[in-house]
Amino acid sequence: MTYEERLQNVSVLGAAGKMGSGILLLTAIEMTDLSLKPGNKGKTFVLNAIDVSAEGLAGLMKYLRGQVRKVAEKKTVWLRKMYADRDDLVENYDIIDEYVFDVLNVVRPVTTMAAAYQSNLIFEAVSENRALKVKLLGDIDKNNGNNPWFFTNTSSVPIKLIEKEAGLEGRVLGFHFYNPPAVQRLVELIITGKTLAEVEDFARNYAKNLKKIIVPSNDFAGFIGNGHFMRDALHGMKEATALAEEKNIPLYKAIYMVNKVTQDYLVRPMGIFQLIDYVGIDVVQFILNVMNPFVEDEELSHDLLDKMMLQGVKGGQKSSGAQKDGFLKYKGGRFTAIWDVHKQEYIDLDSFKDECDEMLGELPSSVVAWKSVIRNKKKDDLLAAFFNDLKTSADLGAAMAIKYGLKSKAIGEKLVSDKVAKETDHVNTVMLTGFFHAYGPVNNFFD
Ligand code: CAA
Repeated sequence: MTYEERLQNVSVLGAAGKMGSGILLLTAIEMTDLSLKPGNKGKTFVLNAIDVSAEGLAGLMKYLRGQVRKVAEKKTVWLRKMYADRDDLVENYDIIDEYVFDVLNVVRPVTTMAAAYQSNLIFEAVSENRALKVKLLGDIDKNNGNNPWFFTNTSSVPIKLIEKEAGLEGRVLGFHFYNPPAVQRLVELIITGKTLAEVEDFARNYAKNLKKIIVPSNDFAGFIGNGHFMRDALHGMKEATALAEEKNIPLYKAIYMVNKVTQDYLVRPMGIFQLIDYVGIDVVQFILNVMNPFVEDEELSHDLLDKMMLQGVKGGQKSSGAQKDGFLKYKGGRFTAIWDVHKQEYIDLDSFKDECDEMLGELPSSVVAWKSVIRNKKKDDLLAAFFNDLKTSADLGAAMAIKYGLKSKAIGEKLVSDKVAKETDHVNTVMLTGFFHAYGPVNNFFD
């Protein structure tokens, strides 16, 4: 089967979820682009968007329409060539409308799993539940006569376990996107000892066509990305808890401070508590629960997460893409309050922000903002100057940032010594392209 034949009938499981919707968008575009190529005119391309939530699927179609339009606007020259035989498409907006129509026409939103029984390729992006993944993939395989290939987006379950338990020998690999898949360039690729070479070759080719950067990870629970993120998040929770005790301040104030340090002082796109909310407190807890039994020398859990879950505060995103409240409360793209686990209510930022900022101290004037630095050619010099100023500062915020930067480096180095990542470059690429960091964790900025 050629690359194109493989992509003529594809299914995405969990298509209305935040990862599934991104995978669906990218795949729908790749399939439509193939269908527009001269040799493929007239061939049918089918992409089943499978999800249990009909409401979620309606939201997905709305998301697709908006995103495909944005994509089309950026490639009108290429589209004009592909639609050269269409005299009725004159203006750019005719061409854009036609492309949006064609992409949406490939997508079949359905709530029944049976749609996947005809597919040659199945992307799995359901919730992080090993038994559910094994059951779904095993059932599809039994009912599908095509010997389909399975690309799982699991964030944490070792692929060889899914392979063995679902009976998919050689036909499954980990193809792990990062949130949002339409923006983050990373795909972690995880093969088992049995994955067929042709499955891996296809995966690499497909990732290349999606303009993604592949980083191979060994098949260890959490892989490289969550191996770093989960430990970094646990460190944030431990630091906040320790800071609250040491300074005798309520935990919500310490959460604000650690979040600020991890965003503004470490020059990251989001503070660590905002990122936990973005991924979902429940998802972070699921991933930690999957990873924990596989690590011997660490305890991958924190009671702050458990408390948040018990109090029903879970973060994550609505189907519209809007951020749900978690550690932080969000309004119009900003956060305005922090959750107090003792009072079980949000405390307005205005009532304590100045006092906390004062405790952290002034940021050095060499400070650089994440957004302005990521595409700056002098990025490394600007970051080095700022981090050097932090090292010579006696302020609390500077000390917290240096400690955090060193911890992040140690986590990165351990992923290599534990043989999860083959080399430190892989860890750095994962954080740069999957988490949009401005610099890799294994650096000399904080030494
Ligand atoms: N789909 C498509 N495009 C999206 C999007 C989505 N869901 N979310 C944001 N974008 C686009 C915006 O439309 C915007 O595009 P334009 O530049 O064309 O206007 C662009 O991304 C930037 O967005 P914003 O200006 O709104 O905001 P920003 O500059 O702060 O970027 C962000 C938003 C890309 C999410 C950035 O904050 C970021 O990268 N944060 C870190 C996210 C992260 O760490 N992700 C990894 C989580 S871990 C994971 O996913 C793995 C796992 O297994 C748990």
